[in-house]
Amino acid sequence: MIGVMFVCLGNICRSPMAEGAFRQHVEAAGLGHAFRIMSSGTAGYHVGEAPDPRSQAAAAAHGVDISMLRGRQRVRADLESYDYVIAMDRSNWSDIQKLARRGHSAKISMLLEELPDAGTTEVPDPYYGGDSGFERVWSLVDRSSAALLARLRRRHQI
Ligand code: 4NP
Repeated sequence: MIGVMFVCLGNICRSPMAEGAFRQHVEAAGLGHAFRIMSSGTAGYHVGEAPDPRSQAAAAAHGVDISMLRGRQRVRADLESYDYVIAMDRSNWSDIQKLARRGHSAKISMLLEELPDAGTTEVPDPYYGGDSGFERVWSLVDRSSAALLARLRRRHQI
C-alpha cells in the first residue's frame, strides 16, 4: 500500500481536511485498497481531539465526513512508515525536516506543489480567522489532493 501522510501544526484544521479530501478522491477512483491515508500535527496541543467544528462543517458541505478523525502528533514515527509526508505550509515543512532521522524513506513535499497555478504555495492556517478561511482551505486541499492522486497514479501505475 502507498502511505500518504498530511501534516499541519495542530492536526485539527488543515491536515484532517486534506486527509478527508484525498480519501474521497481515492475512493471515487476505486483505489481505497491501494492507499494508507493519515494526518498528523507537528505540535501536540490538540492530540485526541476531533477536527475543529469549522473544518468538519467545510468538509461536510462537500459531502465528506471527517468527524471521526482525532488529533495525532507522530511525525517522527510517521516518517519511517509512510511513503509521502506532505506539509501544508513552509513552517510545517521545516519542522518535518527537523524531526526527520537520517535514512528515513519518506518523500517530504508541500501539498500546493501539486497545484502550481493556485496563486499561493502554502495552505493558509485558518485557525484564528473566520469561516471563509475554512472554505478556502477546502478548495485548496480538494483541488491539490486530486492532482496528488493523479500524480501518484502515474508514478505507481495504478
Ligand atoms: P492546523 O491549525 O495546523 O491547520 O490544525 C491550527 C490548529 C490549532 C492551532 C494552530 C493552528 N493552535 O495554535 O492551537
